[in-house]
Amino acid sequence: MSRIKNVRGRRIWDSRGWPTVEVEIRLENGITGRGLAPAGASCGTHEAVELRDGGTSLAGRDVQKALRNIHTLIAPALAGIDIHDQQQIDRILTELDGSGTFSRLGGNAAVACSMAAINTAAADAGLPLWKYLAGDQTVALPLPQIQIFGGGAHAGRRIDIQDLMVIATGADSFQQALVMTAEVYHSAGRIMKQRGQLNGVADEGGWWPAFSSNEEALDTLVKAIEGAGFVPGEEVAIALDIAASEFGKNGHYRLALESSDYDSDGMCELLLGWLERYPIVSIEDPLAEDDEQGLIAFTKAAGSRVQIVGDDYFVTNAQRVITAAEKGACNAVLLKANQAGTLSELRQAFSEAKKAGYGTIVSARSGETEDHLIVHLALGLNAGQLKVGSMARSERTAKWNEAIRLEDSHPLGFFGVNALNHQ
Ligand code: PGA
Ligand code: ZN
Repeated sequence: MSRIKNVRGRRIWDSRGWPTVEVEIRLENGITGRGLAPAGASCGTHEAVELRDGGTSLAGRDVQKALRNIHTLIAPALAGIDIHDQQQIDRILTELDGSGTFSRLGGNAAVACSMAAINTAAADAGLPLWKYLAGDQTVALPLPQIQIFGGGAHAGRRIDIQDLMVIATGADSFQQALVMTAEVYHSAGRIMKQRGQLNGVADEGGWWPAFSSNEEALDTLVKAIEGAGFVPGEEVAIALDIAASEFGKNGHYRLALESSDYDSDGMCELLLGWLERYPIVSIEDPLAEDDEQGLIAFTKAAGSRVQIVGDDYFVTNAQRVITAAEKGACNAVLLKANQAGTLSELRQAFSEAKKAGYGTIVSARSGETEDHLIVHLALGLNAGQLKVGSMARSERTAKWNEAIRLEDSHPLGFFGVNALNHQ
């Protein structure tokens, strides 16, 4: 048994320049491991609560309270626990918090501890994290969804759609998917430059969305795919994250860019029209988190043709996945550890998704660090898909490059297009 000796938190910085929590666990045998909490911008209402200090310093976003909780509450509770009993570690975190939402300890404190624990356990076993997670199971590298234009809350709401991404459906390997996507990314950059609209990048590294309508963004993405020499829908297809909870509530949706209003049926119709006209294979949060009827109706209408991903709707919660599967809402689940608060919660949501026959996508947040744990998580769980943001900004390439290293140094297969749930 390898016991935890101490747990130490520190303030580090995320990709948007805000403070976040890092935790380092040290075992009695001297082995250490770290966990780095990411941070969302377009968060679901039911996510684990991030603990921020409030007040005026750093816009109230400092994490001293979360760090204090790590040192005064979490460290004593975890001392002496076996590092290989992740479920017990996560149970202690959950019970110590006691709120059901991590509002007391802080979801940021909890997830950094949970991530640090799994990294320390893998280090203690002398294994890369993916291998520690996979055990004897044969696993394959995930199919990536990669952002070309950022929007929504990640680009000052310049356009309403949050992520305009591509999936290299024609790729036979992870590294080939990255090459194909890089061609599309730079093709898109050239188009924006020709138009005099190259204005840098949004939070996740996608080009800044200088468009006069949401459909202009979609048209431009198709042009970028063609400009890169690919057949849209055959070699490279579109994946969208509408993030509709950001502009929809109580069955009312407002696309600010076009000053147009829709009810739930109208929003469904608009999106079904896009599915007809554009080579879209995956669509995330097409309706708002509170519009379950809309999600059910949309899944009924389009779920056999495209992957319909729930993010804000599921918030990586096993019970919410079970309920949705009974009702027929969505057919794929986005998995973010900090929505759940612990990796054990994420694994439960993952296993319920699998039981229901839903697709699974391990995802980064819009506020990230150089950490590449999610790549090992996607591979080790054999999740099939990975969403990280774009091709630019080092907190994104840290993940892509780690996946390339893994593909290069181990005889691993690649999920490819088979990972898409509706196929
Ligand atoms: P977030 O965005 O990290 O800001 O929530 C990512 C997503 O919506 O998938
Ligand atoms: Zn999302």
